[in-house]
Amino acid sequence: MHKIHFKAPNCWINDPNGFIWYKGWYHLFYQCFPYSAHWGRMHWGHAVSKDLVNWEEKGIALFPSKTDDRSGCFSGSAIEYKDKMYIYYTGVNYTEEDPENINCCINDAFTAAQLMITSEDGMKFDNITDKKTVIPPIEDKKIGDKNHTRDPKVWRGKDAWYMVLGSTVDKNGRLLFYKSSDLKTWQYLNYCEKDGFGWMWECPDFFEIDGKGVTIFSPMGFFNDGNGYDSVAVCMLSSFDENTGKMELSENYQLFDYGIDLYAPQSTTDKDGNRVVIAWARMPEAVITEKGEWCGMMCIPRIVDVKNNHVYIRPHTNVKNSFITKLSAPKKSGYMLKTTLKNGESINVGGYVIKRENDKITTDRSEVFNIKGNYRLIAETPVINDGYELEIYVDEHLVEVFINNGEYVISNVVYGLTEEITGKNYDLYSA
Ligand code: FRU
Repeated sequence: MHKIHFKAPNCWINDPNGFIWYKGWYHLFYQCFPYSAHWGRMHWGHAVSKDLVNWEEKGIALFPSKTDDRSGCFSGSAIEYKDKMYIYYTGVNYTEEDPENINCCINDAFTAAQLMITSEDGMKFDNITDKKTVIPPIEDKKIGDKNHTRDPKVWRGKDAWYMVLGSTVDKNGRLLFYKSSDLKTWQYLNYCEKDGFGWMWECPDFFEIDGKGVTIFSPMGFFNDGNGYDSVAVCMLSSFDENTGKMELSENYQLFDYGIDLYAPQSTTDKDGNRVVIAWARMPEAVITEKGEWCGMMCIPRIVDVKNNHVYIRPHTNVKNSFITKLSAPKKSGYMLKTTLKNGESINVGGYVIKRENDKITTDRSEVFNIKGNYRLIAETPVINDGYELEIYVDEHLVEVFINNGEYVISNVVYGLTEEITGKNYDLYSA
């Protein structure tokens, strides 16, 4: 059982996949290399939950079995239609394997196709007889790239199904849109691009909240500043025309999370119809335990709202409501801390320092991130408007700072928090 945060079960995990409320369960699939705490030939791991708080492991759902996915089952999504679960994902086929590690390829030599698999109950998947390639590797270089086209996200439109893929043309990231009336045959509609957002767009997502479109994607090479993780998840207000497949993206963008560690968010609707999104917290170093090594975890599921043309991202109500027991003394992790910060004030939470300066929240993890490499230690929000309230969820390896109920969020991976909290008054709650 995993509580609050789903963590890699003694192996490597990355992106959330196939996130869906289906037949009485939340299903969270995820990119997984089951044999070690490093990225390799991708499988889909599977976890289920009744409440988005407690997660139960279900083992491996998808594994390589066809020529088109022989080198990995990359990211994708799930929908429900006529009682069945339909999964769309990217199958990868390495054309040049690394002889020293056949789970990786060399020279970027692989092809990518989009595949479908269905399930009657969301628990059993027939990897041998039930996979179908629905979009073969793209041949037209003006439309997309035959290697770097991936991560299908499918949704129901007014009168048809739509799919968005991340891709690249001439070193510019882009989205590709497809349409289907039967979920099996997919017709290419259009693309959407925007300068200044890296060379390849991973894990796109599109949804509407009260009639406003929101597009999320993870552009690779976005920062291009030589620091660790130069890709990051961004969100933009948008509109999508179902007839033409044309997407308009707003001028302005927000980061999904200003800590830069979260990546590849994926959304679904929760059982009450809220838009809920979960993302992968990238961990530069595996955690070693008595039972083995694990690397990668999921953030708290978050509800997305749009108010005054701003995307708010707040902890899911079920998670928030489970931190009810008031704690009288600090502990190392597994708690939620509430405080307020005015300009010039700061709080040190077990070595993770949160400050408010010039109406921005900044964080500094230098004391709790003794990791080799040029990883970002300082994070900062844009200028905040709404108020002073902070809700900080502290896990042993992830601190999530929600500002003004989701106006902005900073989440950071940490190693070695202490029990000491200093600098400001606060209230503590445990789950
Ligand atoms: C994003 C990503 C996806 C891809 C998957 C492979 O982290 O690179 O684009 O499908 O991970 O594991």
